[in-house]
Amino acid sequence: MSKTIDYRVRPGGRLAGRIRVPGDKSISHRSVMLGSLAEGTTRVTGLLEGEDVLSTLGAFRAMGVRAEGPDRGKLVIHGVGLHGLKAPKQSLDMGNSGTAMRLMAGILAGQAFDSELIGDESLSKRPMKRVSDPLGAMGAVIATAEGGRPPLRIKGGRKLRGIDYQMPMASAQVKSCLLFAGLYADGETAVTEPAPTRDHTERMLRGFGYAVQTAGARVSLQSGGRLKACDIDVPADISSATFFLVGASIAPDSDITLEHVGINPTRIGVINILKLMGANLELLNPREVGGEPVADIRVRAAQLHGIRIPEDQVPLAIDEFPALFIAAACARGETVLTGAHELRVKESDRIAVMAQGLKRLGVDARETPDGIVIQGGRLQGGDVDSHGDHRIAMSFAMAALAASGPITVRDCKNVDTSFPGFATLAAGAGLAIEEQDGQ
Ligand code: S3P
Repeated sequence: MSKTIDYRVRPGGRLAGRIRVPGDKSISHRSVMLGSLAEGTTRVTGLLEGEDVLSTLGAFRAMGVRAEGPDRGKLVIHGVGLHGLKAPKQSLDMGNSGTAMRLMAGILAGQAFDSELIGDESLSKRPMKRVSDPLGAMGAVIATAEGGRPPLRIKGGRKLRGIDYQMPMASAQVKSCLLFAGLYADGETAVTEPAPTRDHTERMLRGFGYAVQTAGARVSLQSGGRLKACDIDVPADISSATFFLVGASIAPDSDITLEHVGINPTRIGVINILKLMGANLELLNPREVGGEPVADIRVRAAQLHGIRIPEDQVPLAIDEFPALFIAAACARGETVLTGAHELRVKESDRIAVMAQGLKRLGVDARETPDGIVIQGGRLQGGDVDSHGDHRIAMSFAMAALAASGPITVRDCKNVDTSFPGFATLAAGAGLAIEEQDGQ
């Protein structure tokens, strides 16, 4: 087993200065995927060099795509066109990344060759029927392990046909998987979502010159088009900025600016929720970069109060709940989350793991089937286990800013999947964090 690390974080301190967190993970995955399938050379800047994105890049390299980098966020991809991928010699390892596995399944279902997608221990437990079922309805043949789990064995040479799919859960991964398969399917492929989810796939397809129709909750495309290479400037990831938005809100006297953060309307649930809780957030210098809205976000400490989180914000903040639970634990009064069952099938069961960790820090946190009820109050120090979940590790690290004693967070190696350099950047901003060899 590869060695892990723990965080040891001393209590107190404040966050200050100006920082830029790494590139957006969702946009980085998609830029590697579409750059590889495009005709011509795509130049990406601001790419997230996290392990998840490197898994996606490794898969395309294994299928014959040439790429230079990544180097300090720069990646040059020599696209092979929609039909230019070659059969990989081995299984494609998606590591910890659900996004990589689900989106790749859509692309691979349309190829002439067989392939197999595998993942690490966490990914191997995550549900894949949500993609294998609708892909099957399109004519794909995909075998899963028991219970619809990875690995996925995907038959090549299948003739796919478009479907008009009513998606049962609000998932951008499922939507994107089916749109990618639709590039290879006869006729129109359409997905209707029960609630808005991140729309980076639609935006980026259009950026590559591919027509995508959006009519209310229904998004559709026709096969037969081509992707034309383009340049992509990946904004900083609002999901990574979130740890600082929460940290600065709960640490007295904080005043920090996060630069060049993506504020796509389908991603700003965290801003909306923190504002409802009384946070002091300012969006500065709003601008558009390569089809994605971007701003600098200034956040200053504020007394937060508990709220009932509006359910329509849940899909728009789905990755931000571990950090938001820390905000709730430091707020005055009760915070209630409902309608968030999806949190139970992320890199860990984020409701159970967060409730367990919060209790270790003396917080009254009660799980419900689709959410949590947190009584805000004081946080004490303690020892918490991230269960190998990157976002849980970073959330509990930030909790130390408002805790009365030191916090040790176990099993933090997977922070590298989405936020390489987190401890160094956070320490520079004022968090008293040290990395130690894990136990
Ligand atoms: C993602 C979609 C979300 C999110 C994940 C990234 C994407 O997953 O949690 O981190 O890039 O499409 P779901 O589609 O499962 O909600």
